[in-house]
Parts: sequence; C-alpha cells; structure tokens
Amino acid sequence: MRVTKEKLHQLIAQKLERAGLLNEHATVVADVLVHADARGVHSHGAMRVDYYAERIAKGGITIEPNFHFEKTGPATATFDGDNGVGHVAAKLAMEEAIEMAKESGAAVVGVKHIAHSGALSYFVKQAADAGMIGISVCQSDPMVVPFGGAAPYYGTNPIAFAAPGKQEPLIFDMATTVQAWGKILHARSKNEAIPEGWAVDQDGNSTTDAHAVQALLPIAGAKGYGLMMMVDVLSGILLGLPFGKHVSSMYDDLTAGRNLGQLHIVINPEFFTSLAAFKDRIAQTMEELQAIQPAPGFDQVYYPGQPNTITEASYEQDGIEIVDDIYNYLISDTIHFDQYGNKDPFAT
Ligand code: NAI
Repeated sequence: MRVTKEKLHQLIAQKLERAGLLNEHATVVADVLVHADARGVHSHGAMRVDYYAERIAKGGITIEPNFHFEKTGPATATFDGDNGVGHVAAKLAMEEAIEMAKESGAAVVGVKHIAHSGALSYFVKQAADAGMIGISVCQSDPMVVPFGGAAPYYGTNPIAFAAPGKQEPLIFDMATTVQAWGKILHARSKNEAIPEGWAVDQDGNSTTDAHAVQALLPIAGAKGYGLMMMVDVLSGILLGLPFGKHVSSMYDDLTAGRNLGQLHIVINPEFFTSLAAFKDRIAQTMEELQAIQPAPGFDQVYYPGQPNTITEASYEQDGIEIVDDIYNYLISDTIHFDQYGNKDPFAT
C-alpha cells in the first residue's frame, strides 16, 4: 500500500516511543528509516521497526544513553554512543564532524558502542547538505565468507559516499556483499531460486537454493573481500571494538548492547577548490554520465545513486510503497512480535 512520508514517520516514531525510546530519539530513528523507504531502500526502512522495538523492550538498546564526544586531535574525535540507538549517535557524530571540518578542512569521527544505525546514506547526506563530502562505513554481523572461505568472517560492511551537487547531492551507498540478506529472505518466502554468485551453502559452494544459504559472498570476489576488510579495520579495530567474526550478531542476546562501530570522514571542498566550482563539476559529472550511450540491453546510464533519486521523486508524488503486513503492524497495538530473540539468521 501507499503511505505519505509524514504518516509513515508518525507511525514509526509512535511505535518506537511506545517500545520505550525517548521521543527525540524515536523521531531521529523515524527520520532515518523514512529516508531509506523513501529512496526505495526498504531493507533498511519500516521493516526494521519490529526488530528495534523488540531489542528496546528487552534492554539491548540503552534508552537514555550517556553520549560522550571527545576531540582527540585537530581533526579527529570519538563519539561514544553508550549502546543507544545507532541512528542518533551516528547523526550527532556527523554534526560534530561537519563542524570540525569547517575549521580543519577534514574530520574523522569514530562512533563507537552503538546499535544498528540503518542506511548510511542518511549520514553522508548530512555532510553533502552542509557543502561537504561525506564518507561513512560501519560494521555489521558476520555473515559473509572471505574470498575462498567456507565460513563467515565479515559482515555486509557498507560504504557510503556523498558530495554536494547543484540541484541535488551525489549519493552512493552500498553493502560490500553481492546482495543484501533481505533478498535471500525474500526468495525463501516465495520458494524461489537465487541467482548463482549471491551466496554459499555450508560447504562454501555457491548455491542457488535460498534455503541452503549459510553465508553471503562479497562483491567482486577478492576485491570486495578486501573492501569489507578495510571497513572492519576502520570502524572496528581502529576504534578498539570487536572486529571480524567477533562482531555481535543482530539477533544474539537482545538484552545486551551490540558495541558496533562506524566511522565518518568529512572533507571540506573549500580547502581544495571553491565550493561553487566543486558543485558545478559534480553536476557536470552527473549530466555527462547520463548522456553516455547505453550499452545493448540498457535503457540509460544512471549516475551512481540515481535509481534511488528516481524512486524518491515518484514516491514523493504517489506516496511510499509499504508492505501491507508492515503497515498493519505499525497501526496495530502490538509493540513487537517477540520473534527475533536468539534467531539463527541462517535457519530456514
Ligand atoms: P543497492 O544494491 O540497492 O545499491 C547500491 C548502490 O548502487 C546505490 O547507491 C544505488 O543507487 C546504486 N545503483 C544501483 N543500481 C544502479 C544503476 N543501475 N546505476 C547506477 N547506480 C546504481 O544497495 P545495498 O548494497 O543493498 O545496500 C542497501 C542499504 O543497506 C544501504 O543503505 C546500506 O548503507 C545499508 N546497509 C546497512 C548496514 C548496517 O549495518 N547499518 C549493513 C549493510 C547495508
């Protein structure tokens, strides 16, 4: 069904507040989830509310976190999220990074001890909206085999990038896996096969049987594997947090904090060129990419992130597409369905 941005925001914030979050935190989480749904990234939108509500209700998210921002050098800082909702800590830490980069030209802020923070495009867009380049990376639970391996070690460790443009920012945001875990779940629910190259079975063999999946595959083989390693080093090891296979699982022990890490890097274009020239060239890049002749089988070349921008424009006009079950949950009196505790993500 279709729902307006405002209505979806109100329903999500209300549910999370009823689950126990402070009003101002519930509002920020709703901002981030609606941002994702509005851009067609439904894997990180309203479908997460039930899980967050269960974790909040069971104590695995600090309701009144004691945030601690500490400047550690002229252009570096840490932001301790005290295992509160990751969205709020990541947003506040990005605000700090932007302020620092106004003075120093660049800033690196490590966000540590947080719960899941959602779609990273939200945070890098904050930087682009302030006329800065934003880069953000974070850890997630181990469910990806290293290249050539048969057991998971890294998470889907996403990388997001945004740069200010003229009409709109350029935003690119991806997991370092071929496909998100949500796509496997979707295939399972429909008893459909998955394409070769998405995932492996328990022996590490590539599988097309969604029910046999025991781990996901990195993008571009050894190269994507290397990228997810870099994300883990930057958002885990660098911040003194659990890393690799030691990162907490999304569904393990919903009563405990996840201690995840995220790293924001902000670069101020004014320290390299003028902001106006930078924006002009970003806009020119976006135009020139779209003007490239499409290869056979393609309608058009899109600039990175453009499919999300197109979805956003269509949803703005017609309302955001939301799965009926999710909408019905949001309008119901149920706070959560108590279905995530100690769930094995690979169980069929
Ligand atoms: P995706 O595969 O849907 O898209 C990845 C990127 O490719 C997007 O920027 C998209 O606009 C671009 N793209 C796709 N098709 C394109 C085309 N034809 N031309 C040009 N650009 C194109 O995204 P993915 O990898 O499924 O990630 C979804 C979200 O999941 C992201 O927001 C990510 O931050 C989030 N995530 C969050 C995690 C967390 O723990 N917080 C963990 C993993 C992912």
